[in-house]
Amino acid sequence: MRTHYCGELRAVDIDKTVTLFGWVDRRRDHGGVIFIDLRDRTGTVQIVSDPQRTPDSYDDAGQLRSEYVVKIVGKVFSRPEASLNSKLPTGEVEIYADSIELLNTVSKQLPFQVCTTEYETVREDLRLRYRYLDLRSDRMAKNLQLRHQVVKAVRRFLEDEANFMEVETPILTRSTPEGARDYVVPSRVNLGQWYALPQSPQLFKQLLMVSGCDRYYQVARCFRDEDLRADRQPEFTQLDMEMSFMSVEEILELNEALVCHIFKTVKNVDLPRPFPRITYAESMAKYGSDRPDTRFGLELVDVSDIVKDSGFKVFSGAVASGGVVKVLPIPEGNDAISNVRIKPKGDIFNEAVAAGAKGIAYIRVRENNEIDTIGAIKDNLTAEQKQELLARTGAKPGHLLLFGAGDTATVNKTLDRVRLLMGKELGLINEDQLNFLWVTEFPMFEYNADEKRLEALHHPFTAPFPEDEHDLATARAQAYDLVYNGIEVGGGSLRIYQKEVQAKVFETIGLSTEEANDKFGFLLEAFEYGTPPHGGIAFGLDRLVMLMAKEESIRDVIAFPKTQQAGCLLTSAPSEVENKQLKELEVKSTYVPKVKSD
Ligand code: AMO
Repeated sequence: MRTHYCGELRAVDIDKTVTLFGWVDRRRDHGGVIFIDLRDRTGTVQIVSDPQRTPDSYDDAGQLRSEYVVKIVGKVFSRPEASLNSKLPTGEVEIYADSIELLNTVSKQLPFQVCTTEYETVREDLRLRYRYLDLRSDRMAKNLQLRHQVVKAVRRFLEDEANFMEVETPILTRSTPEGARDYVVPSRVNLGQWYALPQSPQLFKQLLMVSGCDRYYQVARCFRDEDLRADRQPEFTQLDMEMSFMSVEEILELNEALVCHIFKTVKNVDLPRPFPRITYAESMAKYGSDRPDTRFGLELVDVSDIVKDSGFKVFSGAVASGGVVKVLPIPEGNDAISNVRIKPKGDIFNEAVAAGAKGIAYIRVRENNEIDTIGAIKDNLTAEQKQELLARTGAKPGHLLLFGAGDTATVNKTLDRVRLLMGKELGLINEDQLNFLWVTEFPMFEYNADEKRLEALHHPFTAPFPEDEHDLATARAQAYDLVYNGIEVGGGSLRIYQKEVQAKVFETIGLSTEEANDKFGFLLEAFEYGTPPHGGIAFGLDRLVMLMAKEESIRDVIAFPKTQQAGCLLTSAPSEVENKQLKELEVKSTYVPKVKSD
């Protein structure tokens, strides 16, 4: 019945009689002639009804309102010169409607207009409440389409060119080792026992390697009960992969080929290969972050050795207590950034405080390399120290040097945040640039100060570098993350497949054999039956599509996302359940709603 989609009509279709189905985006009456923008998931096309040329459709056209559902049969014409619209893919043509059949009306007041001109100002909560309408919008329809194209390209590449096989893994399962809180589901059949929803298919994909699957992938739903941000959802989708008998080098190469294939197929963009690589240590030193945005410079410089003996106690004290002093040099920063912004209550100061710092020190480099700063710094640095600072940071007149001093983690976090703020604000980021970067050689463990123990940075199945095995506590992991314009879009590792190494890792994170067996006994047992060397990676599909769509939140590339409060405004999930259900499960809520005081 349908001959074309609305958004696909072009000049080559002129003179064809077409049958279209869709929604009325807008209706405009121009001196007796009625224009309708008809929309379907591919876009819009202009329909015309004219009392002289198309008398049979004219009365019906007059009845149409926004979002009515119609079938239109008509002939494609070239638009008159004056109404050609080069911004619209269908802007060269219009259809004179011979007949308009009304298939359905709108019986309630629309919460917002879907048509493009008014859509951009609609509040997100309203869009999420009426998501099915929101998804009709040009922007959301394009995003869903893009997501589909990406998944399609992934499947083609992995299945047809790289011999991967998709396998589904369970959703009702046991806790997985990704480190977030689990979503749990009570079992009615096994009262008192609970399933956990998978934080990732990690354990199953490793079992699949033991089973000889060789190359596995899955477009896998993952569940993590963690604090939400623009790039985090409680349920999200991974493109999850695991492969046997491959080295890190081969895994990275295959994944670069995959990413290049996606960009070529979906965006017709040739990404330069190989992707640059940086070690974790270098990344932390230069950017204060393990997912640096490399679209701009502003690299950090460690000056601890220069200022360690200075009379300025904030600097010397930081180094004496095992910390660092690092500088973020900002060329032309003197003109661009005022003292008000660096001093208490200023936005840069606030950024530093949010990262856990007490504040941020600065030096302005004036004419003839004169140093302009607060007395406490100026008077307590020797001429030689000043000289060295300028030389080390490459500072010239006009430079602003921002200092972080304290424990290494806080200094890095502070200067990372300030660097990103400056990069954005000083217009140093080219939005069209696509910077992929592998971050490698992560540490195996990080110290958990609350629990006073080491914990696996990635997960406890990640393999250490063989040459580092003698001291696991400081060992580097054969792990890698893929960073795209400063956002982590993927991460993975080679896995441990030898029992002795695994036992040592458990010991290092303070997991007794008993606890390890209780948690992962089934996996450890499987490893005893002939495990191939293997490794894998998982991409955050939502994040990848978000970046490709140039959106700022993954909510905009997920059909039915949750809010920052982990709720669905459309279905009102989560919600209470009936007492009967709880009784059956022998589960009782201890939650007492807080009484609001006025
Ligand atoms: P990881 O925990 O690094 O690794 O997750 C892989 C990728 O998933 C994305 N991601 C998320 N996206 C949206 N919302 C979230 N809450 C969220 N959490 C993670 C990120 C991340 O890079 N099993 C391992 C992979 C492996 O070792 O093979 C894993 O899950 O883009």
